[in-house]
Amino acid sequence: MEIARRRFDTLIIGAGGGGLRAALHLSSADAHVAVVSKVFPTRSHTVAAQGGVNAALANVRPDNWHWHMFDTVKGSDYLGDQDAIEYMCRAAPQAVYELEHFGVPFSRLDDGRIYQRQFGGQSMNFGGEQAARTCAAADRTGHAILQSLYQQNIRARTHFFDEYFAIDLIKDHEGYLLGAVVMNIANSELLLIEAKTTLLATGGAGQLFRTNTNALINTGDGMAMALRAGIPLQDMEFFQFHPTGIAGKGMLISEAVRGEGGYLVNADGERFMEHYAPNAKDLASRDVVSRAIATEVREGRGCGEHRDHVLLKVDHLGAETVHQRLPGICDMVRTFLGTDPAESPIPVAPTAHYTMGGIPTNRFGQVIVPLQHGPEEPVPGLYAAGECACVSVHGANRLGGNSLLDILVFGRAAANHIVDYLHENRYHKPCPTDGADPALARLARWEQQGDGETVDHLRTELAQIMEENCGVFRTEEVMQDGLDKVTALSGRMGDVRLTDHSKIFNTARIEALELENLMDVALATVASALQRKESRGAHSRIDYPERDDVQWLRHSLYHRDTRTVDYKPVRTRPITVDSFPPKERVY
Ligand code: FUM
Repeated sequence: MEIARRRFDTLIIGAGGGGLRAALHLSSADAHVAVVSKVFPTRSHTVAAQGGVNAALANVRPDNWHWHMFDTVKGSDYLGDQDAIEYMCRAAPQAVYELEHFGVPFSRLDDGRIYQRQFGGQSMNFGGEQAARTCAAADRTGHAILQSLYQQNIRARTHFFDEYFAIDLIKDHEGYLLGAVVMNIANSELLLIEAKTTLLATGGAGQLFRTNTNALINTGDGMAMALRAGIPLQDMEFFQFHPTGIAGKGMLISEAVRGEGGYLVNADGERFMEHYAPNAKDLASRDVVSRAIATEVREGRGCGEHRDHVLLKVDHLGAETVHQRLPGICDMVRTFLGTDPAESPIPVAPTAHYTMGGIPTNRFGQVIVPLQHGPEEPVPGLYAAGECACVSVHGANRLGGNSLLDILVFGRAAANHIVDYLHENRYHKPCPTDGADPALARLARWEQQGDGETVDHLRTELAQIMEENCGVFRTEEVMQDGLDKVTALSGRMGDVRLTDHSKIFNTARIEALELENLMDVALATVASALQRKESRGAHSRIDYPERDDVQWLRHSLYHRDTRTVDYKPVRTRPITVDSFPPKERVY
């Protein structure tokens, strides 16, 4: 089959903050850059980030990057790689000042400097008083960043392929990454994009779970493409549940609400976080707060008819503060609940939010794979950044405000490395004649209609299984049941029916491709979770309640071909400072 071809220096798949930050750096360095996005770029999920981006600017309280590093290592439950964490925290102030220069309309202090709010897990002086490190544009920070980065990319002449879906990566027989086959969603025309370097920036996989904060597009596409290209996924057992989603619906109620002084109460009107985190209380890290809410509910102190949620109160802050600092939250609560948070509390419960695991990379954004009997090596030509990657700065639990920072710092770091790579690799490597075959085979599978269950049906069932079997609290029995169910479900993909007649055919085909991606990522998630016999960060096992640094201070790697999990060491050595050794983690 003859496919149209285009050639670029760099192909970036995904137009969220990570992809756009990398694209801007590369286009500004005169590289010829293509960004492929399955939605219009400013609809990428970065748009939904609310509370802000962490950087030790010390505008509101004393701060420095080393305290930020300590909090991030502790927040990660010591699973984060400390070289990458040092790099990110040191780079944070510059990343934010760059945004300011790109035109991001940050909220301001009276003296004109960038406003910073308190977020969970932040401290001064290595675990002391609460810090205020999160730079905010009201509660629409991701929206502001994405718009500015997109506009800057237009100015820098980045080439966008809007509403194109990436089918699969192209590799040569020596293992070089040479681009990808993508499909124009509107007319299903294929395009083979040849590139000297490819950056995956496709975001996370929150659609694995029924109740989540994520856009419908977050189906783990880049992670699944990496798996199919023979790259294992790292630390997939660690999925973050944000403590405050709208109860029963899942939409994000930003941590900014607690950062501005809001607090949680149970059915008895009690501020229960005092029992779980005596110092940080409502601003403990997310895994701690999510478990606290789940425990209150399990022990019968939940609110509402079904006693299945708690309440988030902000009415004591006064309408002016609430409306000015949290306008997006007020809009959302009015839309979905018909109430004003300045007057009545918001019913909240934990909701799936962030994929801590992903495609293994080093701090230069290079995708790294373990060799059979040797050290790790970069996959030549392949990079990953942001939520689809695992660098790993978040380890077992991400701190709020570090995800926007991750995409900015590592989007730029990957672009920096790509610039050097392009200087040393001036010509395109020839694409083998069978280079597109895996992508074409994948598509051929969906040429024929099955007459079994619909894609929608399977996707709903998958999300339900993941919610019930891989949630905030886990046990061997429940996860084994989950693994069996997801394995059986993926077997039912063979006869799946594409369309329910109400949809345009090609949209239905994209949904089927997304479901395939979700299945692979779900298997990686539940298989990795089942293997880890300890509790660490967001992976909380009732049958193994303690953290076990002797056995388990290591990263997992899930391999698709064998459906097995193996392990590699954590990089505990920072670049210039002393390591933070594992300690009991209390807030
Ligand atoms: O709560 C929030 O605003 C989310 C921020 C984040 O996930 O970093």
